[in-house]
Amino acid sequence: MKLILLTISLIVFTISNCTDNKYSDIERKKIIQGILIGSSGSPAISCTSATSFSSIGTAGVTGSCGSCHGGGSPAGGVDVSSYSSVSSRVSSGNPAGSVLYQKITSGSMASYSNTTINNAIYCWIKAGAPQ
Ligand code: HEC
Repeated sequence: MKLILLTISLIVFTISNCTDNKYSDIERKKIIQGILIGSSGSPAISCTSATSFSSIGTAGVTGSCGSCHGGGSPAGGVDVSSYSSVSSRVSSGNPAGSVLYQKITSGSMASYSNTTINNAIYCWIKAGAPQ
């Protein structure tokens, strides 16, 4: 990560130090810098609407995860229809430190998830994983 940031800083530094200052060149530099800087951090997820356990279900968890994570012997011991089951895989207020969020963003469950589900789960955990 540090190496990536260092490389990006070097590129931005190099671009900023070009001597040609025509208006179109300045605009182009700004755009390139925006792309580089914008893609270097983690995406900002804005959590605005009220969130609850049922909101992650309707965001897509029930449809995308319920077939495996439900019934008599749910996969991985996680039943997505059960608040206590799902919240036991969550560190309240800390999405990055939650098994649930890790699994759907970079873990073995990522292929079953999507941005809508990820954002809903992120916001739910951030809000303290309310019932
Ligand atoms: C095709 C079946 C299937 C689907 C669909 C599926 N999972 Fe899983 N899930 C599994 C299996 C099998 C495991 C246990 C192996 C593993 O951890 O990879 C698991 C493990 C997990 C775990 C870790 C449980 C633990 O405590 O170790 C979480 C959290 C999880 N899934 C969440 C989800 C979410 C959220 C979705 C929907 C976006 C989802 N899964 C979709 C089969 C599935």
